[in-house]
Amino acid sequence: MSSLLTDGSLAVTVDGMRLVNPFIIGSGPPSTNATVINKAFAAGWGGVVAKTTSLTDTEVVNVQPRYGKLHSPAGDAIGFQNIELISDRPFEDWEVDFKKVKDAYPDRALIGSIMECYDKGRWQELASRCFAAGCDALELNFSCPHGHPETGMGAAMGQNPAMVEEVTRWVVAVAGGRPVWSKMTPNITDIRVPARAAKAGGATGVSAINTILSTIGINLKNLRPTPTVEGHSTFGGYSYRAVKPIALRMVGEIAMDMPGFSISGIGGVTCGADAFEFLLMGANSVQSCTGPMLQGFEMVSEMGEGVATLMQQHQFATVQAVVGHSLQFFSTHHHLVELQAAKKAAKAAELANRDTEWGKKDFVAEAGQLVSSKE
Ligand SMILES: Cc1cc2nc3c(=O)[nH]c(=O)nc-3n(C[C@H](O)[C@H](O)[C@H](O)COP(=O)(O)O)c2cc1C
Repeated sequence: MSSLLTDGSLAVTVDGMRLVNPFIIGSGPPSTNATVINKAFAAGWGGVVAKTTSLTDTEVVNVQPRYGKLHSPAGDAIGFQNIELISDRPFEDWEVDFKKVKDAYPDRALIGSIMECYDKGRWQELASRCFAAGCDALELNFSCPHGHPETGMGAAMGQNPAMVEEVTRWVVAVAGGRPVWSKMTPNITDIRVPARAAKAGGATGVSAINTILSTIGINLKNLRPTPTVEGHSTFGGYSYRAVKPIALRMVGEIAMDMPGFSISGIGGVTCGADAFEFLLMGANSVQSCTGPMLQGFEMVSEMGEGVATLMQQHQFATVQAVVGHSLQFFSTHHHLVELQAAKKAAKAAELANRDTEWGKKDFVAEAGQLVSSKE
């Protein structure tokens, strides 16, 4: 493991929670029980968002197969689709696991992820029990795009800003000032709307993004969509490399709209350079889920080295200093046209300044450009 991950060089404080480094496992298979979470921490990850859990009587039945990959012409996996639901484990088992993990790694951030139906008592019970079992923070899953929306949960809530605000408020009321991040769905026209609703409900930050609704392909031998379950499929969530440009844009939109609001950036992070880009776009922590699924937990060592090298190269003393640095270089398309016209005019004026250039264009206009007082 790279020593940079734990020696404080990459430490950052998010909503009062100290992260030894900004790299967090995103909710999903790499955080599905204490065994894998402990493996992630042993590899050096600064935090883990546990696989989303709900109260035990919420029915969760997964299917097989439930994943699909998109390959580049060279054969690398560039996109990944899943139709997996939230954790199918009883919540009581999660309470035992949270305690185990926190005892083993007290210096790492353990973030519970919760999802429930539209019921104040259930959200508050789940949240309180997660904190009592040792979670340092909570992520509210308003974003699972498949399966759960059919029953009014996940993205069905995330696409309803009034619900995002209300449910966030319910959880914040029992959080005792601990960080609460509402996880945003990208399957919406303007992600700033639910992000503002989360802030209005008292969230200390948002996580963005969950997966993008997709279908990974059609099997051309039998003309069935994949992943195929008993000859049929359903639209699922798209992740990994291919979604990074969309995730970066959405993180940037939220960051520009609500400067200083915490964003845990996620979507297509595969290496240190990707993580650095999310920091530059305004995220103050960076998650990866499909990355560790396809590359292994050890990828975090390269992430640490990669971010540290880029920080040194660009003279950033702390991770916090990187956060949002590139937002200043975004503008409207109209402004880009103006900038380009101004640059062209400046260049023409500069050319007219050299004796060899005189007379190539309108001689009188060239002379006029060099006059400081126009009377
Ligand atoms: C197989 C799989 C299962 C997932 N399960 C959850 C989940 O239970 N809760 C959740 O909030 N996000 C879940 N996600 C979404 C990821 O946490 C993440 O938001 C998304 O995959 C984009 O990031 P990535 O490209 O790093 O994977 C899952 C993703 C995958 C690939």
